[in-house]
Amino acid sequence: MRASAIAHPNVALIKYWGKSEVTANLPAVGSLSVTLGALRTKSTVNFDADLESDVLILNGEAQPSEQPRLVACLDALRRLAGRPEHAVVTSENDFPTGAGLASSASGYAALVKAAAEALGIDSDTPELLDITRIGSGSAPRSMFGGMALLTMQGDRMDCRQLLTPDDWPLAVAVAVTTERKKDITSRDGMEQSRLTSPFYEHWVTSHPADLDAAIQYCKDRDFMALAELAEHNCLKMHSVMMTTRPPLMYWSPVTLACMQKIMELRADGVPVFFTVDAGPQVKAVCEPGALADVVNALHDIPGVIRVIAGALGDGASVTGRD
Ligand code: PMV
Repeated sequence: MRASAIAHPNVALIKYWGKSEVTANLPAVGSLSVTLGALRTKSTVNFDADLESDVLILNGEAQPSEQPRLVACLDALRRLAGRPEHAVVTSENDFPTGAGLASSASGYAALVKAAAEALGIDSDTPELLDITRIGSGSAPRSMFGGMALLTMQGDRMDCRQLLTPDDWPLAVAVAVTTERKKDITSRDGMEQSRLTSPFYEHWVTSHPADLDAAIQYCKDRDFMALAELAEHNCLKMHSVMMTTRPPLMYWSPVTLACMQKIMELRADGVPVFFTVDAGPQVKAVCEPGALADVVNALHDIPGVIRVIAGALGDGASVTGRD
């Protein structure tokens, strides 16, 4: 009972920050993301009757702090399959882990995909998306390629592909500004924001209008309208983060330099916009024809360690089964 799968991280253009229910990991708002083809997680899940507990080995190291999420995820899969065996999950990221590059999203998407295959669960089973969400609120989006849309109706989550990579070919350049892990996880940070930021409530109530407008801009392939709205939504999320007590300052001076450069490029007519998550890395989303110029411009900014660039990726997929 062993299978492997790959998944790509995703980056939200309309973001999620905050939960309506912590135990079930229910996002308080919907989100819209692009899947990053240039970054990849590969996971192998091996269910074995001789194991006494579940184990996660990430990039060659055991991850005891991940145990509660891992076990909750695997328990839900075992219940669905009616099997008792524990599992060893071996996962490799080809990019910095836990530094605002959505490694938990690709990690749990690959894990659920591989585990479902190993347990013989039909990959179209809708519960698999909810199980992916146990790992991370943004992980269901990594099950889909191109652009993914996650919506909430009360306590019901729906996640689906909005556009394939061919429907709207876009590219993303990620400016890596540090390889260091962040001090505060998204999970803890967003709960602190819900409890203490005076802007949190407005973030939640103003969010559906952003999401609806973004969906329309994507359907119309209106890059410049999406660019303005995505940057606004990102900055709104960061204003909630910064006004959290104690403050969540995920930016470094290099982050800001990258954001300013991207705004300058767009003012000069280059179809590009920035987005930043819970970490100092900057993602530049652009039309494919602008990618080389965007990569060069980001490379030249002092403090940028490297730039990882590529087209939108496909959804999580099984790569092998024994
Ligand atoms: O899914 P989590 O717990 O890693 O939180 C994701 C939060 C952001 O990356 C900041 C926004 C998003 O929608 O991806």
